[in-house]
Amino acid sequence: MSTTQQRLDARTLAAVEAGEKKISDRYLFSMLGQFLKPYRIQLGIVAIGLFIVSGLSTLLPYLVQVAVDGPITAGDLSGLIPLGVLYFVVIVFIFVLRFGYIYLLQTVGQNTLYDLRARLFQHIMRQDMRFFNVTPVGQLVARMSNDIDALTELVSTSFVMVVGNLVTLVGVIFAMLAINPRLALISFITLPVMIGATLFFRKRIRAASSKYHKLVAEKLAYVNEQLSGMLIVQLFGRQSVSRAGFDEKNNAYRDVHTLLRNDYTLYASALQILSTIGVAIVLYGGSEGVLAQWATLGMLIAFVEYTRRMFEPIQNLSEQIAQVQTALSAGERIARMLNVEPEVAEAAQPVDIRGASLSVEFDHVNFSYDEGHPVIRDLVLSIPAGERVAVVGATGAGKTSLAGLVGRFYDVDSGAVRVGGHDVRQIAADDLRAMVTIVPQNPYCFTGTIAENIALFDRSIPPDRIIAAARSACAHRFIERLPDGYATNLLPGGANLSQGQRQLIALARALLHHPQSILVLDEATSSIDTDTEEAIQDGLREVLRGRTSIVIAHRLSTIREVDRILVMRLGQVIEEGSHDHLLAQGGMYAQLYKRQFVETEEPL
Ligand SMILES: Nc1ncnc2c1ncn2[C@@H]1O[C@H](COP(=O)(O)OP(=O)(O)OP(=O)(O)O)[C@@H](O)[C@H]1O
Ligand SMILES: [Mg+2]
Repeated sequence: MSTTQQRLDARTLAAVEAGEKKISDRYLFSMLGQFLKPYRIQLGIVAIGLFIVSGLSTLLPYLVQVAVDGPITAGDLSGLIPLGVLYFVVIVFIFVLRFGYIYLLQTVGQNTLYDLRARLFQHIMRQDMRFFNVTPVGQLVARMSNDIDALTELVSTSFVMVVGNLVTLVGVIFAMLAINPRLALISFITLPVMIGATLFFRKRIRAASSKYHKLVAEKLAYVNEQLSGMLIVQLFGRQSVSRAGFDEKNNAYRDVHTLLRNDYTLYASALQILSTIGVAIVLYGGSEGVLAQWATLGMLIAFVEYTRRMFEPIQNLSEQIAQVQTALSAGERIARMLNVEPEVAEAAQPVDIRGASLSVEFDHVNFSYDEGHPVIRDLVLSIPAGERVAVVGATGAGKTSLAGLVGRFYDVDSGAVRVGGHDVRQIAADDLRAMVTIVPQNPYCFTGTIAENIALFDRSIPPDRIIAAARSACAHRFIERLPDGYATNLLPGGANLSQGQRQLIALARALLHHPQSILVLDEATSSIDTDTEEAIQDGLREVLRGRTSIVIAHRLSTIREVDRILVMRLGQVIEEGSHDHLLAQGGMYAQLYKRQFVETEEPL
């Protein structure tokens, strides 16, 4: 994609998709151009084939004219034979040529779309968290499936048909003008009306078609969301509300589809009538010409055929127009998505991080997800390599956001986050992933076995390392008790594990993949019972020994072992120090501690 092109960010894209914002649709053709470029030779051959076929088909009515005015009028039927043979040869030639170029084009089309699909998936994978926050999954699924399919149609058939029909149209018009300009002008009488109708309906069909596809994506997004939230829907008996929401989408979908069909049928019928009128006019004008001798009978017959052939491509175009419009708007949506650049951009010249220490530093960091709603405010924090730090604080204080900044899932508004002394914006993404491992609050499990989930489908990791990691994370015990052990297949999202078990898998995953990195545990053990947690603590003590770590926890029992505790409130660190120090200070930590102590009635 050319660099001069307007780049989009995730939020602009969301606004455009929601119809709140309009942007110029310059993207499509540059995108198609880019993807078709490797196949330009094949496309050149297709174009030549197309021209020859159109040219030859234009020749056929002329052959009829020659036959009628020559041998037939003269009563010399043997003179017809060479013309008949020629007619036949031309038809066979057209057939072979057409088959050839369509075959070539199908191949090019499929390869192009293969490239496009791969590119789109790669592009989506490259996006930052902000993108996924504002883009519904259903929309992405719609892009990868419906829209690509619509584009397949465009590239591998409709496009050529449209071009073929246009070439035929021009060819026929030229042939008519060359044979008999007067008769030609007569047969063009209905053309302006036809072109007017085409332009009128093109606009309507395009608008309806783009609305239709928006609705498809919305419907997919809605179904996806309702299904993902099925537990809540059923828990609260919201099925009827869900259904009503679906009905609404379904109605809108049906209505716009009906509108589209109506428009299209109206257009096709109008063209049919116009074409019949056109032929009638030619017959009338041509007969007059034959009588007045400015035209021959052969010309009249040829012109009836030419007029049909002139309307045929327009009629075909009308049929293809809906398809092409659909494909064009699908292509636009894909092209737009391909133009979204992650705000968290990879450094142009990443620093060399070899030998960098595993320290973390927040230098007057300000951060917000949405402008005007600061989540982290002027945060200053320095964690030297090897220090174990705990972060506590109320819900919404900004703990997860802080973890996200260390892993550079978002970029700061001002200030800097440094890992190993380097600004995270200067570190290559892969290097940073190797330096910082985050165990998220709600870890995800993929469809596959437990071992595969821990190894993240990396077959090169030997089973004993997987087991060792699981042992450190205290996951070994529960995995062993499962009927298939490490080979147990997980349901989508890890539905057949408890929340705590998923957390243990995530912990094992982190310990296995980046054993040397800075470890950030975001409530990583929040759903784990006290006994198991104690066992994890023992395991973690080993793992965390001498390792820079940030442990985010609500349960204060989790953080007994750390070197320093930070208390966060509204995006700022309001207290810090050791457990004893903070307790003596009698601030928020002391309150939290006392409350938990009383609530759980469990001495810590
Ligand atoms: N993706 C997001 N987009 C917009 N705002 C967000 C997003 N994630 C979090 N926030 C806001 O940022 C603030 C801090 O959220 P954060 O998740 O960091 O809190 P937390 O301290 O981890 O809370 P918890 O203890 O519940 O996990 C909250 O007010 C929340 O509304
Ligand atoms: Mg959180």
